[in-house]
Amino acid sequence: MKKIFAIAALAALLAGSAAAQDYVPSAENMAAREQFSHDRFGIFIHWGIYSMLGRGEWVLQNDKLTQDEYSRLAAGFDPSRFDAEEWVKLFKAAGAGYITVTSRHHDGFSMFGSKASPYNVVDATPFGRDVIGELSKACQNEGMRLHLYYSHVDWGRNDYWPLGRTGHNTGRPEGSEGDWQHYRNFMDAQLTELLTNYGPIGAIWFDGTWDKDAAPREEQPAIWGLRHQYDLIHKLQPACLVGNNHHLATFEGEDIQIFEKDLPGENEAGFSPNSVISKLPLETCQTMNNSWGYNIHDNNYKSADYLIQYLVKTAGKGANLLLNVGPRPDGTIPEPAVERLLAMGRWLDRYGDSIYGTQGGYVAEQEWGVTTQRGNILFVHVLKPGTATVEIEVPAGNRLQSASVYFGTPVKFTTRKEGKKTFAVVTVPDGPEVDNILKLTFRKEL
Ligand code: GLC
Repeated sequence: MKKIFAIAALAALLAGSAAAQDYVPSAENMAAREQFSHDRFGIFIHWGIYSMLGRGEWVLQNDKLTQDEYSRLAAGFDPSRFDAEEWVKLFKAAGAGYITVTSRHHDGFSMFGSKASPYNVVDATPFGRDVIGELSKACQNEGMRLHLYYSHVDWGRNDYWPLGRTGHNTGRPEGSEGDWQHYRNFMDAQLTELLTNYGPIGAIWFDGTWDKDAAPREEQPAIWGLRHQYDLIHKLQPACLVGNNHHLATFEGEDIQIFEKDLPGENEAGFSPNSVISKLPLETCQTMNNSWGYNIHDNNYKSADYLIQYLVKTAGKGANLLLNVGPRPDGTIPEPAVERLLAMGRWLDRYGDSIYGTQGGYVAEQEWGVTTQRGNILFVHVLKPGTATVEIEVPAGNRLQSASVYFGTPVKFTTRKEGKKTFAVVTVPDGPEVDNILKLTFRKEL
């Protein structure tokens, strides 16, 4: 009897903990995920008082500045040319469906009016305007979705203790003032402000748990109280997507998976050695030059053609591209970035149907390029100029009905059998070098 009771108690305990673990996204959240994947293209904005020093958003850490000295930048922050409407119109012209803007970066400075910390753009600068507030209004006017970047790591606060890998040189009294729970409560308070005062928030984009990656992956949720934060976000705005740039396999409660500077499954930048690709909507964030925050030294911009191809490759992986701009301290966006965004927008105006609302194609990346698909159509993106033909395996039970160039002129194809497999061999006529798109129409849904 006693034993049965013990087993029942154990079962109840397990059931209870399973219930606490399992995250069931709401219907609104599922719809938001679909919208997110449909958008395929977003703009990342790194802007803060670090922009004034023109050496990226890590300048406090990299240049070993003290928080006391650095924080005085705030009193000089007065971006006379900041115009949220102008930004959002530009990003719309670029063909983006959402923007992800730094609400608070690792330097701890809040770009919104916050009662939880006076170290914010409204209370600590002569500018005195709520940047996130203005962007949220502009987004609502322009039909752009607003996502907010929020840093887990903080290089200035005394309650952020024990320290992780970074933030050791900013002048905090080593070991004395730490109060981790206080820090977590502070983040809760700010997240509540962000999700209460600025209308619909499309996503919260966390970054910085890697600061404490001396602890194994399994311990990360407990250290940061991730599930608690995620639940808070979903309680305040059920449709708000949660993403975390932790460089690890996703955790319960997350709605999207983020990859830093790499396409899902690749690891050229070195941030993704352990990333298992999840079934969640995917997003790759990438810089346009080599910097996130404004870097006055960095003119190493990727070309517009390169960026268009990168967007196409991202879509080929079934992922979104979150492409970064680092506005200047005066609030303007550097011209090389503007030019590239407009070039991408012109391209998307013409060819966006092969990107928006597609999935990664069933044909994996090939030497000649990638594929995207929607319904019974496979978009074949030939990225390598001079390709004469492409071979596409026809799924069993399906048939290729017609092939054409993107704007409709039919192209020839033959079929070839190899064992049980059928391949369509499609002629690639001359076309745009950046992406020569063929449209293959199949008899049935792919
Ligand atoms: C890294 C950097 C951070 C940047 C982010 C963007 O985590 O630390 O500065 O904001 O990548 O992906």
